[in-house]
Parts: sequence; structure tokens; C-alpha cells
Amino acid sequence: MRRVVCPGSFDPVTNGHLDIIGRTSRLYDEVVVAVLINIEKTGLFTVEERIEMLEAVTKEYGNVRVEKFHGLLVDYCRQNDIAAIVKGLRAVSDFDYELQMAQLNYRMSGVETLFMSTNPEYSFLSSSRLKEIARYGGDVSGLVPDLVQRLLVERLRG
Ligand code: PNS
Repeated sequence: MRRVVCPGSFDPVTNGHLDIIGRTSRLYDEVVVAVLINIEKTGLFTVEERIEMLEAVTKEYGNVRVEKFHGLLVDYCRQNDIAAIVKGLRAVSDFDYELQMAQLNYRMSGVETLFMSTNPEYSFLSSSRLKEIARYGGDVSGLVPDLVQRLLVERLRG
């Protein structure tokens, strides 16, 4: 079975993430979306909430599994028989950071990283910018799935 991982914080999942996950799901037998448990950073949503949102919006793909992980991503890959990491690249500005991480991950474990170019429609999008816009009452429709938009507005209003 050809299994790959799309890792991230997903706080929350955006249409940019979903575009990468959906396109990856057409190329591989199984895609594991792995949500990082970061003990140093509290998110807007809990890891369980992020997983619930991801499960709801990736259900239609049929071959996407959502899990959480902590520690090194390459250890998670080894434990789950995952040979490659798929990452979306939005712009050149992502490249330095992503290249360094890909090379370190390969050096540590032999796990490959494959870069997929982000749909230009979402190349400006990030979860942090999105939260900022939503926090100050900006319109985020079209940038996140409807379910996520509802939960974002609810969370930031409360
Ligand atoms: O959505 P993000 O926050 O950009 O995702 C970053 C993520 C989760 C892919 C990255 O931080 C990660 O892999 N963290 C796990 C710890 C790890 O393996 N660090 C070594 C990287 S060389």
C-alpha cells in the first residue's frame, strides 16, 4: 500500500490544506493527515477539535485518515509504515524552511519529502492570517470550508 502523510498544525484546516490533501488522495492509496500535538503552543482549537473538523471535511475523499502525533515526524512515519511526507509550497518564502526540514528528515530517517505546489487561488493563505482576519470581523468565506467558518466565528465571538 502506498501511504503518505500530510503533517501540520491545522489550527484550523483551510481550503489551501484541503486542496493539497485532496490532490494527494488521488495519487496515493492512503493519506494520513497528522496533526501535531505541540505542548509549547496553545492553539485556537484543541487538537481533538482540529481532528473533528479535518475528519468532517475530508470524509468525501474516502482514503484519508486523520490522526494526531507528537515528537518527531519521522518517528511517526517509521511507526506507521509511511515512506513519504507531502508538503504544500505556497511561495519561494516557504522554500528555505521546508527544504531544511526535508533534508533533516531525510538525513535522520530516509523518509522522503514531496512538495506539491499550492493552487494559486490559495497561495496567500495561512491559518494564522485567517484567524487574524476572522478575529477582526473580516470575511473568510471561500478560504475555509463552511463548517470551519462557522466554528471560527463562534469561537472568536465567544
Ligand atoms: O502546519 P505547520 O505548523 O507548519 O506544521 C509543521 C510540522 C508539524 C510539519 C513540523 O513542525 C513538524 O514536523 N513537527 C514535528 C517535530 C519534528 O519532526 N521536527 C523536526 C523537523 S526537521
